Amino acid sequence: MAGCKTKTICFTNNKGGSGKSTTCANLAFELASAGKKVLLIDGDMQLNLSLSFFDEERVLEMAECEENLYYAIKNKRDLSGYIVHTPYENLDLIPSSTLMSQIEYELFTMIQREYVLKKCLRSIYEKELYDYVLIDAPPTLGTWVINILCAADYVIVPVEASPWGLFGLANMFDFLNGISEMTEAKIMGVLITKVDERKNYYKQTREILAGYDNINVFETFIHVDTSVEWAQDNSVPVSVYKKSTRSAKEFQQLAREVMDYGSR
Ligand SMILES: Nc1ncnc2c1ncn2[C@@H]1O[C@H](COP(=O)(O)OP(=O)(O)O)[C@@H](O)[C@H]1O
Ligand SMILES: [Mg+2]
Repeated sequence: MAGCKTKTICFTNNKGGSGKSTTCANLAFELASAGKKVLLIDGDMQLNLSLSFFDEERVLEMAECEENLYYAIKNKRDLSGYIVHTPYENLDLIPSSTLMSQIEYELFTMIQREYVLKKCLRSIYEKELYDYVLIDAPPTLGTWVINILCAADYVIVPVEASPWGLFGLANMFDFLNGISEMTEAKIMGVLITKVDERKNYYKQTREILAGYDNINVFETFIHVDTSVEWAQDNSVPVSVYKKSTRSAKEFQQLAREVMDYGSR
């Protein structure tokens, strides 16, 4: 937030499967490994971000109790009371709930309904507990995602290097323009994910993205790597699963790009 040392980055793309949760989890781990204090917020009812760090049993336990994002937002509570430590140093999480499916309904009757998340984060910002807050968004463009965007300084948009990877992207940029008076969030960059060198969609995707004025595309891109899925299956970041794997190095490189972005 403006005047505060914490940088809040959200991961949005209304297209599901573009790599939002994977990027959010692995970038957070690499930032934390680089010594940054990082808070993750799992904003999606699919619980994928929570599952990236905890096994299914624990994630369901967190989702079913009242100590999660859904209850905090519904009751407009200070989110600093909902922080869970991950097994990793410098890396904390606010877990989600499957009840997040009802959050649009809960927000509907609230006053200043677009800023509820931002207000719930206020004390975390005031105490300057973190260098980065990373928020994983669901693949929708409703009031909840507006809340996420209103709480964010920056947006990272992961897009899959595939024939339909860019489908709907223009809508998303229009959506961001449409709410530009409500939020100062700016696009930090588009990240090309799931690149398969046997196909030529990477080149095609980068060429099309170059046609968008004023949209930064990260130099770093992420290859398709089965280690990503194995890591997720084991609820660990890809660097913990296999440090030498290609995607682990790419997420480290992305973390450097993100840290440098702040100092430019
Ligand atoms: N670099 C990668 N290599 C292989 N599989 C990947 C990679 N990135 C993401 N995936 C897989 O693609 C699927 C969608 O990724 P995910 O991060 O869940 O997307 P989103 O959050 O945008 O829906 C997941 O099953 C995930 O395991
Ligand atoms: Mg996701």
